[in-house]
Amino acid sequence: MMGFDEKSEIEPRVLIGKRVCLRPLAKEDLVHLRKWSEDAEIRGLIGEVTPMSEADSEKFLHKVYADSNRRWFVVVIKNSNQVIGEAGLLRMDAAWRATDVSVIIGEKKGWGKGYGTETILLLLDYAFRHLNFHRVAIGVVGFNDRALRFWEKVGFRKEGIWRDGYYYDGKYYDFVMMSILEDEFRELHGGNDHNDR
Ligand SMILES: CC(C)(COP(=O)(O)OP(=O)(O)OC[C@H]1O[C@@H](n2cnc3c(N)ncnc32)[C@H](O)[C@@H]1OP(=O)(O)O)[C@@H](O)C(=O)NCCC(=O)NCCS
Repeated sequence: MMGFDEKSEIEPRVLIGKRVCLRPLAKEDLVHLRKWSEDAEIRGLIGEVTPMSEADSEKFLHKVYADSNRRWFVVVIKNSNQVIGEAGLLRMDAAWRATDVSVIIGEKKGWGKGYGTETILLLLDYAFRHLNFHRVAIGVVGFNDRALRFWEKVGFRKEGIWRDGYYYDGKYYDFVMMSILEDEFRELHGGNDHNDR
């Protein structure tokens, strides 16, 4: 097991946890992304306005491949190979040692079973230990109580609110900015290698 302070030279392509693994988004995964984007409840919770067409999803894949400041994965249950979500880092700013993160468990039957927690711990380990970031941030839709509890439980702290920052279904809602720093992660989650390679 590698200590938290020893930065790995090798950036892993696949992040492997106990029950889930995160593998890079591929063309055959787009069907799942489109399915989740057709679900109005999920769109509302993550602040997406319209569903993704096939062309949109292919454009998104090209954007992921072209953007060196983004790493995008699908969340796969290891023992069934089922794709249950998408997650990744975006707006990665190496100079500022700061990045944004995203976790979407698109299969609702997979909610509340710890898959989201395993996914974010793999991503934070990847961001802090392998990519050497100092700060990881997320913006959360103000009425997404599940997500607000989820991020807080992982150790993210609220740091500000975009008042009426989210206009959804004819109403304004707050948009909550949250973040976690490398020392906070280390203190809460230890030097454990969350990547179960
Ligand atoms: C938010 C999300 C990532 C959480 O992942 P998850 O696998 O469902 O959550 P976990 O099972 O790992 O639970 C972790 C914690 O989240 C919170 N949580 C999970 N389900 C919850 C629920 N139904 N209501 C309130 N809090 C809940 C709890 O604090 C929970 O800890 P606990 O089980 O010890 O109480 C997932 O539900 C999801 O992707 N939802 C839809 C998209 C979304 O909202 N993404 C986040 C955008 S910011």
